[in-house]
Amino acid sequence: MENSNTGTNTCLVGLQWGDEGKGKIVDILTEFFDIIVRYQGGSNAGHTVVVNNEKFVLHLIPSGILRKNKYCVIGSGVVMDPRQLLEEITELRGKNIEVGGNLRISEIAHLVFPYHKKLDELSEGEKGDEKIGTTRRGIGPCYTDKMARTGIRVSDLFHPEYFKQRLKKVVEEKNKIFVRLFNADESSWKEIYDEYCEYAEQIKPFVCNVVAFMDNAVKSKKKILFEGAQGSLLDVDYGTYPFITSSSVTAGGAAVGAGISPKQIHRILGVMKSYTTRVGSGPFPSELNNELGEHLRKKGGEYGATTGRPRRCGWFDAVAVKHAIMVNGADSVVLTKLDVLDEQKTIKICTGYKFGNKVYDLFPTDIAALPECQPMYKEVSGWQKDTSMMRNMNDIPSNARNYINTLEKILGIKVEMLSVGPDRGQVVNLV
Ligand code: GDP
Ligand code: IMO
Ligand code: MG
Repeated sequence: MENSNTGTNTCLVGLQWGDEGKGKIVDILTEFFDIIVRYQGGSNAGHTVVVNNEKFVLHLIPSGILRKNKYCVIGSGVVMDPRQLLEEITELRGKNIEVGGNLRISEIAHLVFPYHKKLDELSEGEKGDEKIGTTRRGIGPCYTDKMARTGIRVSDLFHPEYFKQRLKKVVEEKNKIFVRLFNADESSWKEIYDEYCEYAEQIKPFVCNVVAFMDNAVKSKKKILFEGAQGSLLDVDYGTYPFITSSSVTAGGAAVGAGISPKQIHRILGVMKSYTTRVGSGPFPSELNNELGEHLRKKGGEYGATTGRPRRCGWFDAVAVKHAIMVNGADSVVLTKLDVLDEQKTIKICTGYKFGNKVYDLFPTDIAALPECQPMYKEVSGWQKDTSMMRNMNDIPSNARNYINTLEKILGIKVEMLSVGPDRGQVVNLV
């Protein structure tokens, strides 16, 4: 993507419920940046990049890793599962991707432990119909411990006696919960301790003081790309609470999670899909529980990159995306998966919600209303042409151009890039 903005530090953030195609776009933009930073979330993320028919799914490591001579940083705001990280490194190296001095991990990132995953599993099981539908990667329990000040951080691994005492205490507490609340088995602190001491040795070369690293990067005028995980509607504050993830997904979270001043983030780039998907429970006003929803799932390959679960599909929800654009202060957007709509005769855009006598054109904060909201649609004509081969602005069918322009008008934002297929090369620049 050749444009005048690419020299400035950019935060890329999902504007829907995740899986907007962030990984693919980060991979493309990486060419114009020096450092790519994940600032929140953990291995609940699944970012897919396809290069020459080879598919890579990244969970913890930034999607910039596929390009040579770039630094990839796992920031302090990420919850880091070392087992997952090491698996990912092995997989990448198996595909001849270099992972060594180009990867940095914050020494103050919190660690995900097996008891976090067990707790995630048990509490989801307990909730029945009320379950969030988490990825069961221990994300909520790990962030809970962080805020409760009972978490264990990467740097603790390098102080074995301190680590042992802290772990013993935490596992003792967790065991009370496992046994008394869930009637489940106890965990062994010793097993975890031995396992994590092994990991410590293996991750040691990557661990660094990220604050100093980022400060140095800023001073030496390196270009930084912040890679958001999840989507703005899963944000712990601004998402569809309680059906959210446990981190600050939105651009505001990037400074804190990366350990950098907000002054160093110059541009916010949103990524949105041409329709909407959601995995897990929670309100989704424009959901299509019909054949068309099935078709979008099939054509779009809408199955979780982390869990394999089928994603719920629906029309583009402009009410929800407008909210996300506001809360992020997005400057412009990338529109992905346009090709998935190629067959449609008419395409709908949700422009408002009806709730009893009320009409919402702003995303309701009243969470009780949201599940009852009925979508109000604007209809546009489809283009019924294959767009997956388009590479130039002039190739865009006029009805597709009309769909893009209509979205731009409703949302009040410029679409600067289109994605028309999973491969790195399947893009059209609009600026
Ligand atoms: P992320 O979590 O935002 O990185 O997105 P995911 O990787 O979870 O989901 C996006 C899926 O759509 C992946 O399978 C991508 O390979 C695929 N994808 C990305 N962009 C496009 C596109 O423009 N068209 C099509 N058909 N697939 C795409
Ligand atoms: P990427 O980065 C889509 C959803 C889960 C669940 C809720 C809470 O690939 O876009 P968690 O495991 O985080 O406690 O689950 O959030 N979720 C995602 N949905 N894409 C993701 O990441 C997600 N990460 C979490 O399905 O509804
Ligand atoms: Mg994903």
